Amino acid sequence: MNPALTQFGDKMSHLTGVRAIMKDIKETLQAGVGQQYINLSPGNPVILPEVEELWREYTTELLNGQDFGNVVCRYGDSQGYEPLIEAVVNFFNQRYNLNLTNRNILITPGSQSLYFYATNAFGGYTSSGKLKQIVLPLSPDYTGYGGLTLFPEALFAYKPALDIDTAGHTFKYRPDFSKLNIDESTGCVLFSRPCNPTGNVLTDDEVRKIAALAEPYDIPVLIDSAYAPPFPALNFTEMTPIFGGNIIHCMSLSKVGLPGERIGIAIGEEKYINVLESFQTNMCIHSSRYGQAIAARAIETGMLADIATSVIRPYYQKKFTVVESTLDEAMPKDLPWFLHRGEGAIFAWIWFEDLPITDWELYQQLKQVGVIVVPGSSFFPGLREDWKHKQECIRISLTATDEDIETGMRRLAKVIQDVYKRGN
Ligand SMILES: Cc1ncc(COP(=O)(O)O)c(C=O)c1O
Repeated sequence: MNPALTQFGDKMSHLTGVRAIMKDIKETLQAGVGQQYINLSPGNPVILPEVEELWREYTTELLNGQDFGNVVCRYGDSQGYEPLIEAVVNFFNQRYNLNLTNRNILITPGSQSLYFYATNAFGGYTSSGKLKQIVLPLSPDYTGYGGLTLFPEALFAYKPALDIDTAGHTFKYRPDFSKLNIDESTGCVLFSRPCNPTGNVLTDDEVRKIAALAEPYDIPVLIDSAYAPPFPALNFTEMTPIFGGNIIHCMSLSKVGLPGERIGIAIGEEKYINVLESFQTNMCIHSSRYGQAIAARAIETGMLADIATSVIRPYYQKKFTVVESTLDEAMPKDLPWFLHRGEGAIFAWIWFEDLPITDWELYQQLKQVGVIVVPGSSFFPGLREDWKHKQECIRISLTATDEDIETGMRRLAKVIQDVYKRGN
């Protein structure tokens, strides 16, 4: 017999979005022992030797240092390990000319938990019963936002405007400011920049415009910077991180090689940080101090920012060019396929206009030819509108080898050609 669950228990015990598909992928890979799949689905970063070595060095330093017992044998402050907070304050003040103090920083066990605290602290029902929306200004966006809130009705995403280059087979999503509504019914605003799954980067102006709409209502705007500069710096286009006022700049150390250590960093006004810190104390006390201690050293020395631009960014940027050039060569010119402009992150996003089948069916057909991608429809959390486009996209991970990406894209081109020809 299954245990009786509360509404909260029921919500949190179900997998949402891409996590549910990942289960299917895992089962496919396990069942297909002996069959060679080209797996273009993972969100897990590649273990780059230089990055692994950096973390090994700082771990050795920690193991041999005076602070080891204090780091791993004791509880610490909920806000975070003090030397890491200090390293973040100094680094960001210097690099971006800010006036941060240690009260502007919160360290969390991964950035996913930070979004959980924030969306539940600022979104949902107020004590007077009013619904405060969690606004995603540009859909599609990170699938993980779909499982954050107890109240699905609180999550509200906006359909984007599309900038299409028909001849070049590329496109870009833009926030549709003619529709975007931010007012006293909004609890918080959230978006990833660069974006998982599309690789889109909202321009500095677009970000400022969104923050300005929220500012009169004192609504926090969480900018999920999991792929942004200064680290991991997975932006392939110019972008400036934007701080201050109602913006909470949210970072993750997962894409700089520490996903296993679970480290997220929030930078924002003290009034927001205090709320999030209390949430964290109630939930889990604090993040792992071992990870925080090695991160403190890597930030303080400047090595993390250096390795991001010298090793991590070029690695994934090159992979994107492999996707781009193989598609250009292999995809039929007369079909309406569009690659999203590769402005950052570790994914490529492809849209097939008027696709005769759903993205899920395409995913199944690609599995038949040994290629695993992620169907795009799981990346529209909170977008209730019927929109065929939601079933016309797939996400390709840039974590595979060049050879696998090339072979995968060629097989994709063949399947797509057949699908449009057959009409199913
Ligand atoms: C856009 C985005 N935000 C947040 C996360 C969660 O990262 P973390 O490992 O810091 O919890 C991910 C993970 O892939 C992501 O892609």
